[in-house]
Amino acid sequence: MPEIRVETASAQYSVRLGSGLLGSLPKLLQELPARPSRVFVVTSPEIERLWGEAVLQPLRDADFAVQTVHIPAGEQHKRLSTLERLCEELAAAGADRDTLLIALGGGVIGDITGFLAAIYMRGIRFVQVPTTLLAQVDSSVGGKTGVNLAVGKNLVGSFHQPIAVVADLDTLQTLPRRELRAGLQESVKSAIIRDPALFEFMEQNTETILAADPAALERVVESSIRVKAAVVAEDEYEGGLRMILNFGHTVGHAIEAATEYKHLLHGEAIGWGMLAAIHLGCARGVLPQSDADRMRALVRRIADMPPFTATADRLVALTGSDKKKRSGALSFILPVAIGEVEIVRDVTPTELTAAVEAMLAEVHASQPASLQEPAHAS
Ligand SMILES: NC(=O)c1ccc[n+]([C@@H]2O[C@H](COP(=O)([O-])OP(=O)(O)OC[C@H]3O[C@@H](n4cnc5c(N)ncnc54)[C@H](O)[C@@H]3O)[C@@H](O)[C@H]2O)c1
Repeated sequence: MPEIRVETASAQYSVRLGSGLLGSLPKLLQELPARPSRVFVVTSPEIERLWGEAVLQPLRDADFAVQTVHIPAGEQHKRLSTLERLCEELAAAGADRDTLLIALGGGVIGDITGFLAAIYMRGIRFVQVPTTLLAQVDSSVGGKTGVNLAVGKNLVGSFHQPIAVVADLDTLQTLPRRELRAGLQESVKSAIIRDPALFEFMEQNTETILAADPAALERVVESSIRVKAAVVAEDEYEGGLRMILNFGHTVGHAIEAATEYKHLLHGEAIGWGMLAAIHLGCARGVLPQSDADRMRALVRRIADMPPFTATADRLVALTGSDKKKRSGALSFILPVAIGEVEIVRDVTPTELTAAVEAMLAEVHASQPASLQEPAHAS
């Protein structure tokens, strides 16, 4: 069973990865220096139905005082109002500073639970038990927690590291295929930014990975977590290097905002965003065409990214409100080779528009003919 250490300036913990791991939570909690007084499993009713008992029963058997609190599924519930309700629920149930939270779910549940753990009684312990591919390879590791505001995603939050991550690959077997494929775009991202061997593996085993073959998924998830852990270890608070994890996200977030977070899954928008960044790398002459072709082919094969409607001007305008912007300059992650990216701050609006237009041409070409506008509209 792979165990990956995450060692940041503020915390050290392990990511356990494998099959049949949900039942190992009691042992993990028993080995803590201070036994939790109470355990709250934060999850959605849907995930509780699928995986709740596999987490709850072993904890009860080991005499932990455990109960569940619910968040309805969906990004629209990642809001401060949900957090207030959860704080009230914890307080009413007698949660104290020695209470431990378990986030059982995807990135939405993980981000909310992490933020809840960061602020309840000024900070309590929590364990991430990610049940989506995206959460296993990305959001459960690294300690970014938070909620959305009406004007943008993840604008309120905190860095609060979990005390452990338990990524049970069995949970992926119930994940809808579209969610699995969208999440895999974050692994493509990890491969492009830092891991050429992972890139090659994904290229050569695409069909096996998409068929959710356990061994292939374990290989992909483990390598992706190792990339994330290494980057976060070097730069926990995103002062510099950690920004490379945003490869594809500047334009991807703009696409999510332009389509009101309804039409595309996060990973699908990031897929299109990576294609825009690849176009920019080629236009600048820093990314060899052969690498660009391989990157583009893998992004397109991993997920069937739905087309969408937006103009280049609108998308470029929306990148201006990205929270990655600092002191007025937009940081852009530019691919320069498979396994290597650069952080640049001198991308002009004209260059970005050209890259977004090239990406939109691909979006347009992937639309069913019946939905395409006539080439020469009168
Ligand atoms: N903190 C970070 O570093 C970080 C990084 C990337 C993304 N994120 C955040 O993660 C969120 C997206 O996460 P996500 O893609 O996991 O989405 P999600 O949490 O909304 O889960 C997607 C869907 O899958 C369902 N689901 C979850 N596990 C399942 C399972 N095992 N079987 C069947 N259905 C299951 C959920 O109920 C939901 O409907 C976004 O809010 C994004 O901002 C955070």
